[in-house]
Amino acid sequence: MASRVGCFGCHGPGGRVGKRNPRSFKGYIPPWRGRDFNELVRDDEELRRWILDGKIDRLESNPLARYFTGRQVIQMPAYRDILNDEEVEALITYIHWLQNQEL
Ligand code: HEC
Repeated sequence: MASRVGCFGCHGPGGRVGKRNPRSFKGYIPPWRGRDFNELVRDDEELRRWILDGKIDRLESNPLARYFTGRQVIQMPAYRDILNDEEVEALITYIHWLQNQEL
């Protein structure tokens, strides 16, 4: 599912290692686990917004964060028109599962 819609092309195989992203805040695309993820995604509501809109209000309303998210070379695409509810829920389930795995 995630590979079919292209998530891994940016978030790395299995969503584990993001590729480089010049001019972004950290210099790479955030993977779906670890400290960056916990900063960027506080709960499932935010996770859903990331996937549907490619951004979340909490960062958009923070001028420093917006500076980087607007300027980075690679942007997170919005999947609102591409995925149905079931597919979004499947991704959320996968991402939860991933976070409980040992490396
Ligand atoms: C074209 C590259 C690209 C693709 C394809 C992509 N993303 Fe992203 N994604 C990004 C970037 C860049 C960010 C960081 C955005 C920011 O900081 O504004 C991000 C952020 C995220 C985040 C929030 C933070 C984190 O730690 O990862 C989630 C969750 C996420 N993406 C999920 C997905 C899912 C699910 C898919 C597939 C349906 C997907 N992405 C496809 C580039 C991509």
